Amino acid sequence: MLVEHAFAKINLTLDVMGRRPDGYHEVDMVMQTIDLADVLTLEEDPAGAITLEANASSVPLDERNLAHVAARVFRANSGVNRGVRILIDKQIPVAAGLAGGSADAAAVLRGLNRLWGTGKTTDELAAWGAAIGSDVPFCVRRGCAVARGRGERLEPVNHRMHAWVVLVRPPVFVSTGDVYGALRAEEYSRRPRSPEMVRALAAGDFEAVRAGVHNVLAPVTFRLYPEVARLAERVRHVAGVPVHMSGSGPTLFCLLPTRGSAQRVYHALRGFMREVYLCRFLPSALAPPRGGRPSVEP
Ligand code: C5P
Repeated sequence: MLVEHAFAKINLTLDVMGRRPDGYHEVDMVMQTIDLADVLTLEEDPAGAITLEANASSVPLDERNLAHVAARVFRANSGVNRGVRILIDKQIPVAAGLAGGSADAAAVLRGLNRLWGTGKTTDELAAWGAAIGSDVPFCVRRGCAVARGRGERLEPVNHRMHAWVVLVRPPVFVSTGDVYGALRAEEYSRRPRSPEMVRALAAGDFEAVRAGVHNVLAPVTFRLYPEVARLAERVRHVAGVPVHMSGSGPTLFCLLPTRGSAQRVYHALRGFMREVYLCRFLPSALAPPRGGRPSVEP
């Protein structure tokens, strides 16, 4: 039996450069792991089956769950035909733009590699992950990276920036496919913002990082779900700092330079939002999880 943490991500930048012949969109984005994590426990199943259990009713427990897909992909690619029982302690909001499902899939790939002693490299696992979802390769690696292609081509970014993140999860479930589908050609980016963001991160310039956060999908999600746009405006007013959206949304976030300023924003937002999380950047894949406590009491 072993435990793997599945960390969430936020997008610091997300530019869409155009539509690809395969129907996906060509993206250029800076992704950052944060210390909000699902906890997966993997146990050998002597009967040879792949089974899932979770503490949340919002995720399917059958073969549609990306953790289940990942176990099947791992078996098919490694040739190891053993069974596994996967328990998911779900902490990352579902369908929220935080790559929760992709993080679980990545944790299963890493976990089975350890459980079954297959000795695959991170590169191999990341390549297998691309078949599961566009964000899975990043979730296999973690840390910070520029992601291109449909999100699977990664260029690691090494930085030592410490920033606090207050997440607000509006009570809306967003389909990534719907958001990309509603993006108009005139909304495509002319040039990616990632080079500027990478420079700001490398320089450890918090103000430049916060000023450089950008997501071309935000206006699309706000158009499809006007209540998210209204909420973003309210969060900005209450927090008194810029408000951004992660991935295809609807999760909104504020970046703060210190624990104290982040705690003030966290408590102010808890006054009117049910799901607020206080987290921080996780620059190294090896750092242990901390923080990321939901405001909802268990
Ligand atoms: O890869 P994933 O299954 O996470 O993507 C979900 C949906 O989001 C895709 O079916 C596609 O409609 C859209 N998408 C896209 N371009 C990307 C990533 C996702 O159009 N780079």
